[in-house]
Amino acid sequence: MQQVYLDNNATTPLDPLVFEAMKPHFMEDFGNASSIHTYGQKANSAVENARRQVADLIGARPNEIVFTSGGTEADNTALRGVLTHHRARGNHIITAVTEHSAVLQTCEQLEKEGFRVTYLPVDREGMISLDRLEKAIDEETLLISIMHANSEIGVIQPIQEMAALAREKKVLFHTDAVQTVAKIPVNVKDLGVDLLSLSAHKFHGPKGVGAFYIRSGVKMDPLLFGGSHERSRRAGTVNVPGIVGLGRSAELAREGLKELDTRVKALRDRLEKGILEHISGTAVNGSRTHRIPHLTNISFRAIEGEALLISLDFQGVAVSTGSACSSGTVEPSHVLTALGGNRKLHKSAIRFSVSRMNSGEEIDYVLGILPEIVERMREVTPLYRAG
Ligand SMILES: Cc1ncc(COP(=O)(O)O)c(C=O)c1O
Repeated sequence: MQQVYLDNNATTPLDPLVFEAMKPHFMEDFGNASSIHTYGQKANSAVENARRQVADLIGARPNEIVFTSGGTEADNTALRGVLTHHRARGNHIITAVTEHSAVLQTCEQLEKEGFRVTYLPVDREGMISLDRLEKAIDEETLLISIMHANSEIGVIQPIQEMAALAREKKVLFHTDAVQTVAKIPVNVKDLGVDLLSLSAHKFHGPKGVGAFYIRSGVKMDPLLFGGSHERSRRAGTVNVPGIVGLGRSAELAREGLKELDTRVKALRDRLEKGILEHISGTAVNGSRTHRIPHLTNISFRAIEGEALLISLDFQGVAVSTGSACSSGTVEPSHVLTALGGNRKLHKSAIRFSVSRMNSGEEIDYVLGILPEIVERMREVTPLYRAG
């Protein structure tokens, strides 16, 4: 049976070239990057090389990159680190209802600790209004955290305009760019952000490693204590193989950005067009214009998303409903709910996310089996038969 992996927003397959770069650091080059001897120096120079590779991908300076255990830790540190450090200046944070749980749950916890949080709504396309953002800022606002692209519907927010507004109001700006770094050009200086989170396993790197960018001069408290690693911004012996993998995947991503914008986007478009044209009662969720190139989120009328996911899995095709992190729950995703509209349609949504490792034949295989699966499922749905 053919295997087709179309859940690249949940995670991506490791690039063999990344694995090659990591391998020596599990075995012969196993040193602790903080040690003074030759083993340590070798590890340290590999970590610093990776820091340059990540910095180059996002237009930062190497000393503005702090390695973490992934996107979740990057988000937690960016929010909590800045807020606790600047607490004397205010207690308000602005975010959006469609953020990833790494941001939302950090905010909920911060609320319990006395911070005030404004959760901005989105329109039917998933976009946040700049006007609403401006109105939400008050004299106690310390930080705005808005994700660059949404992990479930792929909608890209106007981060440049939002960050400019924040700067004008002397408020710090963080963006969770876990779903855009290495997918579209991301340049921290052009965006004008103070902090940005990224994660290696979303772009063919290893799991359990990520980073945040912190603009030179921005002060924060660390999340973890216990050592002066990462210039005292993140304690703990650094994950050398993981960081080397992150660096190499960043380097490969830089070379592959054009391919994402052309070949990978064409695969997504072919899949989307094929579904919309050949399966009735289907509709794309979220904006189709402000969107990352490799994702489409489609509702299938009168279908239970989870059931369709399982049927596709039986045929070797991996997709997701809502975000991977919330799969397993039967509630529609918080992102689709935030768009408003029909709850049943939200529950019928499937996220297809492609990567540079997918091929045209794979897309054709999915387009070949999907109409029949949907038709069969609808045949046993009385509501659909009733029209
Ligand atoms: C937008 C976004 N932020 C944060 C994360 C968390 O990243 P990690 O899996 O590296 O902890 C994810 C992962 O799904 C994500 O999509």
